Amino acid sequence: MRIAIIGAGTVGSGLARAAVSLGHDVVLSARHADHARKVAEDVGARAAESAAEAADGADMVVLAVPSTAVAGVSDQIRREVEGAIVIDPTNPLEPDVSGVLEATLSVAEEIAILLPRTRIVKAFNTVFGGFLTHPVVDGVQLDGFYAGDDPAAKAAVAELVAAMGLRPVDVGALRAARSLEHMAFLNISLNVRNGLSWSSGWKLLGDVGRAAT
Ligand SMILES: NC(=O)c1ccc[n+]([C@@H]2O[C@H](COP(=O)([O-])OP(=O)(O)OC[C@H]3O[C@@H](n4cnc5c(N)ncnc54)[C@H](OP(=O)(O)O)[C@@H]3O)[C@@H](O)[C@H]2O)c1
Repeated sequence: MRIAIIGAGTVGSGLARAAVSLGHDVVLSARHADHARKVAEDVGARAAESAAEAADGADMVVLAVPSTAVAGVSDQIRREVEGAIVIDPTNPLEPDVSGVLEATLSVAEEIAILLPRTRIVKAFNTVFGGFLTHPVVDGVQLDGFYAGDDPAAKAAVAELVAAMGLRPVDVGALRAARSLEHMAFLNISLNVRNGLSWSSGWKLLGDVGRAAT
């Protein structure tokens, strides 16, 4: 599968490394093309000069950028992502991490409006970047929660989530993405406020029925 990752920071590089190791054709872009080149070389991916070049022809496009950059990036890739699956791993937090940015919609639902000819899936936002290549805490496999409105797109993302070593947990329609953003905030703020080591992760115990595959 061809996967474009827009953003080559903690999440972009972690996802790229994991996807490359699974044999996917991964193309990275960043705000600064030289950063994308450096990270791509490090993880064994290809680098693109722009978000549009990365997204062109991709089956999946991950927006691994700050939530405040999503609208601008969407404008740059609108034509290229038509028909593709767009994965939103963003967390729209206050700059001082005091809360989730006030909004009626999740970032994922906003992307669905910005990119109407794509299929959006919220995924990976509840997993700290350091776990993307080895999602295990104290011997326990972390969950990879995802939400979306298109069953086939969700199935494809769940397959990727599982291949990366997370247990995929379907939390429902795209409107559930706002809950995932709040879940991520809880874990992030716990680490920030208490000076923790960013080694905590989400796991839902007990019977989750068909939500987990
Ligand atoms: N860090 C985590 O553990 C974690 C976990 C889950 C979800 N998230 C979410 O995932 C997203 C990425 O987080 P991160 O920690 O990877 O951030 P990061 O390390 O700061 O990396 C952000 C990347 O986005 C690029 N970028 C910034 N503004 C851009 C723009 N206007 N157009 C195109 N590219 C732009 C940057 O380009 P340059 O490299 O050229 O500066 C950089 O490569 C955020 O929304 C965050 O909330 C983070």
